[in-house]
Amino acid sequence: MSMSYETIAAEKAALITQTGRATILAIETSCDETAAAVVRNGREVLSSAVYSQIPIHEQYGGVVPELASRNHTLKLRQVVTYALEQAKLPWDALDAIAVTSHPGLVGALLTGVNYAKGLAYALSLPLVGVDHIAGHIAANYICHPRLHPPFVALVASGSHSHLFHVLDYNRYALLGRTRDDAAGEAFDKIARILELGYPGGPKLEQLAKQGDPAAIVLPIGMHGDAGLDFSFSGLKTAAINALHMAKQRGTQLNYADLAASFQYSIVESLTQNALRAALQYAPGGSFVLAGGVAANQTLRERLREAMREAGLVFYAPEGKYTGDNAAMIGCAGHYALCAGERSTLALNAVARNAY
Ligand code: KG4
Ligand code: ZN
Repeated sequence: MSMSYETIAAEKAALITQTGRATILAIETSCDETAAAVVRNGREVLSSAVYSQIPIHEQYGGVVPELASRNHTLKLRQVVTYALEQAKLPWDALDAIAVTSHPGLVGALLTGVNYAKGLAYALSLPLVGVDHIAGHIAANYICHPRLHPPFVALVASGSHSHLFHVLDYNRYALLGRTRDDAAGEAFDKIARILELGYPGGPKLEQLAKQGDPAAIVLPIGMHGDAGLDFSFSGLKTAAINALHMAKQRGTQLNYADLAASFQYSIVESLTQNALRAALQYAPGGSFVLAGGVAANQTLRERLREAMREAGLVFYAPEGKYTGDNAAMIGCAGHYALCAGERSTLALNAVARNAY
């Protein structure tokens, strides 16, 4: 009698838990990047392919969920095949499949989850669903071979502004989160008002380089509050009001000054809470920045300096691992399998945040 998929997958997963060794194919489709990667033993990236849908969504000024799903479906096979080719590996060299299963656009997530399930079943490999935020944090394990938990982490992306105490590879305590917009979302919204295009973060950062961050005084979110939560909607409203008031006076604000002042407020807000969290939960230890907004040089430098002064070591991923990619999902998936986690073929995509 032949063994069932579940029995084989459980045995193979148990072997990974036992040995800590695995070659994992990872898939990421939570938003507008179709990505696949092959990761060995957690931190060695054999290949990382990212097909960006930005040119498709750019003309709409933001991600159109239906288009994202459809284009993931169109491109996934190609991206996965390319990742395997780049890794110079045959299918039978793989030990497991990891896939982002939450949070994100549910239709987009589903394309990756279903594809991963099909592969896992066809190749008789264990499957593991990965949290996208855990993936962003894991990008730092890839870039910094000596980094190990515990540490305090800030994940700043298009949908997250979260401070965590990362106790172990699979144990996170949430310390603070945004009460309204995420940091990247705030960047994107103001960039849209300034008609800079999508995604707004990198474009606003470019414009800010020519502006004076002290030119326009904007509030720093949740400043003075003792908690570790963030809020960026007041800042956003203040920036919009400043634009309107100038217009009513018959003048026009200097957009570069507004971009620089806006960026300053966001960076200060993130840094001040990050610093308090780091001093409280990881004094003398490590602080980790992750997520798409980690590409922002002003934020990186401000945090690096603040952490150094406070006696902490600062880590951030190298450029290509700040935004969405599948290598980070392979790394997080590896540590989940090592901890004995595994998903069945009933794995589902979930839109909402686990935290
Ligand atoms: O992690 P990510 O690629 O996708 C999500 O999980 O959301 O993050 C994308 C976000 C976008 O909001 C984008 O505008 C922002 O990260 N971002 C930046 C920069 N590069 C990307 N924000 C500020 N400065 C940047 N250089
Ligand atoms: Zn992301």
